[in-house]
Amino acid sequence: MTWPEYHDSTKHSVGSPGRSPYVLDWANMPDPFRHYEGVPVLDLPADPAAPQIPVFEVLNGTLGSTSADNGPTFLSQLLFYSSAISASKRVQSTGYRYALRVNPSSGNLHPTEFHFRTRGLKAWPDGLYHYRPSAHMAEQRAVGDLEIGLAGTSAPIVFVVTSILWREAWKYGDRAYRYCLLDAGHAWQALSLAARAVGCHSFATAHFPDGEIARFCRFAEDEWPMLVVELRGASIPVSEPASRETVWYGGRANRLSEEIMTYPAIDEIHNATKLSDQACPGLSASEPAPNGSGEIILPVPVSPRHSFGEIARARRSALDFQGGMQSISLTQLSCILAATARPLPADFARVRFIQLYLYIHRVYGLQPGVCRYWPEHDQLERISSGDQRVAAAGLSLGQNLAGNACVAFSMIGDLDRAARTHGNRGYRYVHFEAGAIGQRLYLAAEALGLRATGIGAFYDDAVNSYLNVTPAQGQVVYHFAIGHPVRDPRLEA
Ligand SMILES: Cc1cc2nc3c(=O)[nH]c(=O)nc-3n(C[C@H](O)[C@H](O)[C@H](O)COP(=O)(O)O)c2cc1C
Repeated sequence: MTWPEYHDSTKHSVGSPGRSPYVLDWANMPDPFRHYEGVPVLDLPADPAAPQIPVFEVLNGTLGSTSADNGPTFLSQLLFYSSAISASKRVQSTGYRYALRVNPSSGNLHPTEFHFRTRGLKAWPDGLYHYRPSAHMAEQRAVGDLEIGLAGTSAPIVFVVTSILWREAWKYGDRAYRYCLLDAGHAWQALSLAARAVGCHSFATAHFPDGEIARFCRFAEDEWPMLVVELRGASIPVSEPASRETVWYGGRANRLSEEIMTYPAIDEIHNATKLSDQACPGLSASEPAPNGSGEIILPVPVSPRHSFGEIARARRSALDFQGGMQSISLTQLSCILAATARPLPADFARVRFIQLYLYIHRVYGLQPGVCRYWPEHDQLERISSGDQRVAAAGLSLGQNLAGNACVAFSMIGDLDRAARTHGNRGYRYVHFEAGAIGQRLYLAAEALGLRATGIGAFYDDAVNSYLNVTPAQGQVVYHFAIGHPVRDPRLEA
C-alpha cells in the first residue's frame, strides 16, 4: 500500500460515516492504560513544582528553569506537565468517571505511550522505563547503561514515544492511523514544551529503523515506535553515570481487550512507512515550503503572562463554543498564530509541510471569510469573503463547534512534497507536524482565556475543493477550532 492509497481510502465523504457508522463494542473497549507487569515500579514524587515561566515565553523559545535537584523530582516534573492525568470527567447519567491527561487525544483514547532511557541522573538508576500515568510512577524495564538504537546519543534522557493502534482503531477503524500520528505529534510537542519550561532542549528524530528501536526496547508487539526525543541541558540534575551491567526485567505487557481486532489497511500503511534496518539512509533535505504574503498585516502579539505550569495542566478541549456575538481580538489571533510559527526541533521539520487556512467567524477588526496564514511575514492572505460558520461546521462532519468558534482552521499538509523527499515515511512527518502545531494552538488559546478543540473528522475532498487546493498544493490533514467555550458539566478538576 502507498500513502495515497491509504489516504484516499480513509477519507470521509458525505454519506461515508453514515454508510459505516461506528459500532462501538463497549464490552471490548481497550484499556486506556498500558502496564508492563512484573517489573520494579519506582515512585515519582507527588505534586512537583509548577514551572513558573510564562507559557508564551516557552512557546516563543525561551528556556525556563527548575528547582529539581535530583532525578526523580526532575522526571516527575517533566512528566506531570507533559503527559500525566490532569482532570477527570463524570457522566452524570451513569456516574462513569474517566481520566483526562495533559496531552490531548482523539476520542480521549490515548494510543500514545511514553518510554524513556536515563543515564547519569542523580539518585535515579540508569535504565529503561515506561511511564505509568495511572499512578504517576515509572516501570523499570531494564537497569544499567543502555543505548537506544540511535548511534551515539549521549543525552541523559531519551524518550521513545509509541502508539498502540488498536486503542484508536476500536472506534475509528482504518482512519485511526491518521489519528495516532496526530496524537503522537501532540505528545511530542507536549513533552518538548514541558522540557523547555524546565530548562532543557529537546530534539525529535522520526527517521529511524523501526525494527531496531522496537527490538532494543523490547516493546510489546502492539506498540509501534513513532518518535525518539532526546533531552539535554544544564538543568537536568546529573552525576557520574554508574557503570553497571544491564539487567532486563522486560515485563509482561497487559492485554488491552478481550478480543483484539486487526485492521489490515493499518498494518499495510504502517509497514509501508517503515524504514528497514539495512536501508535507513540519512534524512535528505526537503524542497522548501512555499513562501507568500497577504494584504492583512497582523499586529505585534502581546501575550498574557500565565505560567506554563498552570496552563499545561488546565488545557482542555472545548465541548462546544458560545456562538453569538463574543469575538476575539486581532491581537489575540496574532498571538495564537505566532505560537505556531516557531521552528520545531526535529530531524524531519527543517522545512514546513503544513499551511494554515483560517475560517474567520468573529475576529474583531477582520471581515468574516477564509484567509491563508503566511508565517514568514506575519500576514494573512484573504482567499474569500463572507460568513463561513455553516461551511466550517459542515466541512467538519457537521460538528457545530467549528461554526460556533471565533476562528476555525484547516491544516493543509503538502503530502506530495513530503513523499517526494521521504517516500511513504513522509506521511508520518506531515501528521506529526500537524499534531505539534495543534498542541501549540491548544496552549496559546488556553493562555488567552479561550479554549481550543482539535478536530480529526472532516470531509476531506470537500475541504480541499472548498479551499481550492489541488493535491499538488496539499490536502487537509487536521482541523481546529478556537473560541469562547461553553461549560462542560462533566468536567471535574
Ligand atoms: C487528533 C485529535 C482529533 C480530535 N478530533 C476531535 C473531533 O473531531 N471532535 C471533537 O469534538 N473533539 C476532537 N478531539 C478532542 C478530543 O476529543 C479530546 O482531546 C479528548 O476528549 C481529551 O480531552 P482533553 O483534550 O480535554 O484532554 C480531537 C483531539 C485530537 C488530539
